[in-house]
Amino acid sequence: MCGIVGYIGKRDAYPILLKGLKRLEYRGYDSSGIALIDGFDLDITKKEGKVVRLEEAIHKKEGSIGIGHTRWATHGEPSDENAHPHVSNNNSLAIIHNGIIENYESLKIELKKKGYHFSSETDTEVLVNFIEDIQETESLSLEDAVRVALSKIVGAYAIAVISKEDSNKIVAARKGSPLVIGLGSGEYFLASDATPIVEYTNEVVYLNDGEIVVLTREGYSVKDSEDIQQTPYVQTLEMELEELEKGGYDHFMLKEIFEQPRSIADCMRGRLNTETGNLFLGGIRNYSKALQNAERILIAACGTSWHAGLVAEYFIEELCRIPVEVEYASEFRYRNPVIKEGDIVIAISQSGETADTLAAIEIAKERGAIVLGVVNTVGSSIARVTHEGAYLHAGPEIGVASTKAFTAQLTVLYMIALRVAFYKGTIAQNKYRELVTEIGKIPKKVAAALESNEKIKKISERFKDAHNFLYLGRGYNFPVALEGALKLKEISYIHAEGYPAAEMKHGPIALIDEQMPVVFIATRDGSYDKIVSNIQEVKARRGIVIAIVNEGDAIIPDMVDYTIEIPATHESLMPLVSVIPLQLLSYHIALMRGANVDQPRNLAKSVTVE
Ligand code: G6P
Repeated sequence: MCGIVGYIGKRDAYPILLKGLKRLEYRGYDSSGIALIDGFDLDITKKEGKVVRLEEAIHKKEGSIGIGHTRWATHGEPSDENAHPHVSNNNSLAIIHNGIIENYESLKIELKKKGYHFSSETDTEVLVNFIEDIQETESLSLEDAVRVALSKIVGAYAIAVISKEDSNKIVAARKGSPLVIGLGSGEYFLASDATPIVEYTNEVVYLNDGEIVVLTREGYSVKDSEDIQQTPYVQTLEMELEELEKGGYDHFMLKEIFEQPRSIADCMRGRLNTETGNLFLGGIRNYSKALQNAERILIAACGTSWHAGLVAEYFIEELCRIPVEVEYASEFRYRNPVIKEGDIVIAISQSGETADTLAAIEIAKERGAIVLGVVNTVGSSIARVTHEGAYLHAGPEIGVASTKAFTAQLTVLYMIALRVAFYKGTIAQNKYRELVTEIGKIPKKVAAALESNEKIKKISERFKDAHNFLYLGRGYNFPVALEGALKLKEISYIHAEGYPAAEMKHGPIALIDEQMPVVFIATRDGSYDKIVSNIQEVKARRGIVIAIVNEGDAIIPDMVDYTIEIPATHESLMPLVSVIPLQLLSYHIALMRGANVDQPRNLAKSVTVE
């Protein structure tokens, strides 16, 4: 949700900023812009649309200090005027901002009274003029003016400000939105996440909420909101540059779908020994007793991560016999949830930056819950504010539609459940060993499921012009139906709904006619016979059925229009495999419709606003 990038050093800032913006584009792509200082000149280029449009438009590229922004619109439509950077009235300060300034209206009125004028509808332009006003009336340094201004701001932000009066300084700050500083030699980088930085240095500092950093070519200094010097923790990044490239695939989404046999294996590596049955999750060792003794577990998440939570509800209850409630983080925060001291809350998030999930964590912590994070992005806000947690180790996910993070989330949550069940004694030894062996086979089974790619491409050809889709599944495959529908909606803009198959007769059945494609996730499990009946009900109404079945199924293929086979596994692990064809189906359909698969309209990967 908006990406920001900055550079100060000896090299030309422009190529670094441009490349950085391309890496951050997944965070929003409504407009982008760059500000560069060359001597005493402040040059700004900004353009509505994707970063390539900015690249085409830019003329002046000189300067070894600069800031860049890629926007996901909140205040004001996507346009050149509303694009960042924004400049203050005296043309001296330029700012980039990720977040929302909630009290901008009242500040704007005050500034207008003082004669300030505004050329955009954004909250950000108000902030930069507020800083200018404070700097001028109180004769403060840029960093002090920023600190005073931020003390009067309500909202969330990661900002970077430069001034043409001082070409050796970037002032940046964060509260609620992420900000990482890259430490080079005689040069410094800043960005919303580490992806624009990793090419230049692997030494980074993740700024904490309320901190303000001043970067010059000679060094950097971090202070808190009270102006007290901080000793930042310098972290070494383990991210590889090639993880940020498409690696021969046409799209990040396809690469990430095909990466899953490896990302699932990476997720288990060093944690689960499928031969001895040893299972160790270092990240949650301090709270493993609390987990075993928990009277209930709450899961808070959004989007695809929420679907992973729904699957986890099934297996945690089955294996650990602990009641689980799965909440949309956005709803959780605005009701008055019953949370008791000692309750366990698991927050699931790929990005680790989702504002609603972060807010849910705060509420849970205030009320005495133990909050565990299941997060992909190392060093992200959720990873830092939770008591403990287990990283996914799935590598960066760039495609906006989440794929490999979903299967990695399931893998981590499954390992947590197995461990709790083992120590709690709610699983028999032989059952535990059987499931450990089975989860060890999942990467190979996912690889086998991926072999249906060509077949799925052909099926997609047939359905690319559909207007509606229904996804149905039962038990463990019900959340998979929801996830399949979400994937299709997100990237192909076809209306799709997921339902528990048995619920079909309470409404969705009315939609079925000879035009309606219905995807059944009909693998062999406890409710197989029931789902066969549901398929018959659809066929009786001339619906077109695409069925995901286990290899060797002798019944369903004869009943339906299209069949996609996947390997069998234990039903609690099935979602890890059954989601694969649904990811591929949405990918191919979206591509055939000419949609931008990696950057679907209106969406952003990291939703840092409420
Ligand atoms: C956005 C993304 C989704 C993601 C959701 C939750 O909507 O487009 O792919 O599932 O946010 O994000 P998180 O990073 O918390 O998992």
